[in-house]
Amino acid sequence: MEKGSQLDKVRKIEQKGISEISMESRPVYHLSSPIGWMNDPNGFSIYRNEYHLFFQYHPFSNVWGPMHWGHCKSRDFVRWEYLPVAMAPDESYDAGGCYSGSAIEADGEHVLVYTGVIDRYLEDGSHDYRQVQCMAKGNGIDYCKYEGNPVITGLSLPKGSSVEDFRDPKIWKEEDGYYLVVGSRAGDGYGQVLLYRSDNLEQWEFLDVLDQSRGKYGRMWECPDFFPLGDKHILLVSPQNMRARGYEFHNGNNSVFIYGHYDKSIHQFERETITSADYGLDFYAPQTLQTADGRRIMIGWMQSWDAKFMKDFLDWSGMMTLPRELVLKNGKIYQHPVRELENYHKNKVEYTGKEITEAVVLDGIKGRIIDLQVDITQFDFHHFAIHFAHNDEYEMLLQYNHMRKCLTIDRTHSGLIRDVVCRRKMMVGPTVSGIQGEVLKLRLLLDRYSVEVFVNEGEKVMSTVFHTPMEADGIIFDTDGTAFINVLKYDISI
Ligand code: FRU
Repeated sequence: MEKGSQLDKVRKIEQKGISEISMESRPVYHLSSPIGWMNDPNGFSIYRNEYHLFFQYHPFSNVWGPMHWGHCKSRDFVRWEYLPVAMAPDESYDAGGCYSGSAIEADGEHVLVYTGVIDRYLEDGSHDYRQVQCMAKGNGIDYCKYEGNPVITGLSLPKGSSVEDFRDPKIWKEEDGYYLVVGSRAGDGYGQVLLYRSDNLEQWEFLDVLDQSRGKYGRMWECPDFFPLGDKHILLVSPQNMRARGYEFHNGNNSVFIYGHYDKSIHQFERETITSADYGLDFYAPQTLQTADGRRIMIGWMQSWDAKFMKDFLDWSGMMTLPRELVLKNGKIYQHPVRELENYHKNKVEYTGKEITEAVVLDGIKGRIIDLQVDITQFDFHHFAIHFAHNDEYEMLLQYNHMRKCLTIDRTHSGLIRDVVCRRKMMVGPTVSGIQGEVLKLRLLLDRYSVEVFVNEGEKVMSTVFHTPMEADGIIFDTDGTAFINVLKYDISI
């Protein structure tokens, strides 16, 4: 990297900023923006045996702006080390932003593919706005943009597709070459995912449209990923402008799993079902990688475009979910917090067969940086609630309605002073476990300003951020009837 370059300047600003931010203001085991604004995870990959994660990044303020690629790495998905910002929008083909993309290790190099945004006014006064796919290569710290960029332009698009909405390439390698999927908007104005192939990472050939919204699942399809899971193939996409459908999809930006089968010989994907990837208030643009031991791990941006808010006292804005392992069981995707988290469990507190008939506090069950597991084993009630991040002034609420088999997350009283969406519901009920009989399993991962709720060992998940003052650390269990619960709590300390 050249001294005095734009990237060099950003790196200096970034370093100074990070050193001034108190670790106390950050989540402990979730990646948060080093300084300024962060959105989508990018380039989630393994390079030289370490996990690398890049992200959409605007280090100069707490709001979205010209996109850079921030960078960090980890050995276990839990402890993250910040690395210097990897890319700045400093070339003619990406001056409008280095948008989302992915990474792969190839011939000892770390290869990034990303969307360059061309955004300029031409001499005749017309506005040239296009999105193109670009490449950069590096050594895990410094990256050099390919001189032949862009590597894919709108010329390759199927007829009628938008050159303005053409972004977020996700790359992978197969025996016969490199492949990538990229988000696009078809001639009908709705989202589609395109498949490309290359021998050398420089020339790419368009192969097929893998799937399309056709007006049913939102407009632009952002941040696609495509991978085998069990005996299926999953297309993961983040559609914009969806309309709510029951409690399966909410209005606006969603992230969805499209289950299907892929016939590689003709590059065709046949869709079977489509479900939400997360039912909370804050989850978007997830991306996956495969570990050396074969696990498919997904990470998402724990934020929503429409209900973004933050405390003015923080100098950073944006965090990621804890990476989750995806497993296909009985034809459904289950999500498990990465098992590496268990290495950081401390101070176990456990209750078995506890009868709850009114609001109770259980000794030793409190905190804001915890892994809390609550199994409900008897259901003689309509409602069962867990109030957490609780004190006299504030609380977060997780409420289960047994009649409707519906779980609600509610941040109305978490301390917000803006009129943002506060409540979201999902349909889920008890499962039958051999030993326990009927059981509803709730697992809450709290990390200062966020909660991820895994239900029934990851059958469904809801992720939500809240900016409640840290002194609100109480937990109360409550019901309008009688519930029996088992509780297991660990602090998480790294
Ligand atoms: C998704 C997204 C991507 C784009 C990036 C820009 O959140 O809109 O489609 O590449 O964010 O920051």
